[in-house]
Amino acid sequence: MILTAMLLAACTEQPAPAGAGADNAAGAPAASDEEIDDDSDNIDVWLERLEVGSREIYSAREAVVRAVGLGEGDVVADVGAGTGLYTLLFAEAVGVSGRVFAEDIEPLFLDLVNRRAADLGFDNVTAVLGREASVTLPAETIDVVFIADSYHYFDDREAIMRTIYDALKPNGQLVLVEFDIVPGEAKPDYKSHVRFGKAGVISEIEFIGFKLVAEPAVDGLEENYLVKFKKPGDLE
Ligand SMILES: C[S@@+](CC[C@H](N)C(=O)[O-])C[C@H]1O[C@@H](n2cnc3c(N)ncnc32)[C@H](O)[C@@H]1O
Repeated sequence: MILTAMLLAACTEQPAPAGAGADNAAGAPAASDEEIDDDSDNIDVWLERLEVGSREIYSAREAVVRAVGLGEGDVVADVGAGTGLYTLLFAEAVGVSGRVFAEDIEPLFLDLVNRRAADLGFDNVTAVLGREASVTLPAETIDVVFIADSYHYFDDREAIMRTIYDALKPNGQLVLVEFDIVPGEAKPDYKSHVRFGKAGVISEIEFIGFKLVAEPAVDGLEENYLVKFKKPGDLE
C-alpha cells in the first residue's frame, strides 16, 4: 500500500540540520513495519512526518512558493497534495479569483485538505480523487501543475504525466520538486526509496512533450531540486 511505503520513507527522513528546533523528528528511532501499518491511517502521524522542520520541502516552503511564481487568478493543481502543505499556501497566492485543485489518490488526505481549507476560510480549494495513472482533471484547464516529493511514488509515470500534459493549458507550467540522488554515490537511508536522479527525471518528462525552461536555485533546498517545464503553446 502506498501509504505504508511512504511512511517507511518518511520514517527515515533527512537528518536534522544543526540547531534545528524541537519539532524535529529526525533522529527518532526507526519505526518497525508493524508500527507503520498501525499508523498509516493516522492523520496526526502524517502531519508530524510531512510538516516538520527537518523536512526541507517543509522548511523551505515559502521560498518554493516564490519560485513557483503564482499570480492572482491562476488555476493550479497540487498533484500528490498529501496533507495540503502546498495547497493551502497556493490558495493564499492565487486569491479568490484563482483555484487550487488538491489531487491525490488517498481519500484520507483529501478529507484533511478539505477540513484545513474550510478552517482557514478558503473557498478556492477543490479536492480531487485521482487514479494511480490519471490525475482525472479536465483537458486544458490548468495554468500550473505542481508536484512535490510525489513523482517517485507514481507507479506508471508515463501514463500519469500524459494526463498532466493534457490537463495543462497550452503554455502551462509544470513545476517539480524532487529529492536528488548523485549517480554512483551511495544513497543515505532517507533517500533509499528514490530510484532516479534529476537527469533521468528531466529526460522522462521531456519525452512526454514538455520543454525544460528553468532550474532555479531555491533558498533552503539542498537535498531537493526544483525544475520548471512548459507545455508548448498552440503555435509552437
Ligand atoms: C511524500 S507525499 C508528498 C505530499 C506533498 N506533496 C508534500 O510534499 O508534502 C506523496 C504523496 O503522493 C501521493 N501519491 C502517490 N502516488 C500518487 C498518484 N499516482 N497520483 C496522485 N498522488 C499520488 C501520496 O498519496 C502522497 O500524498
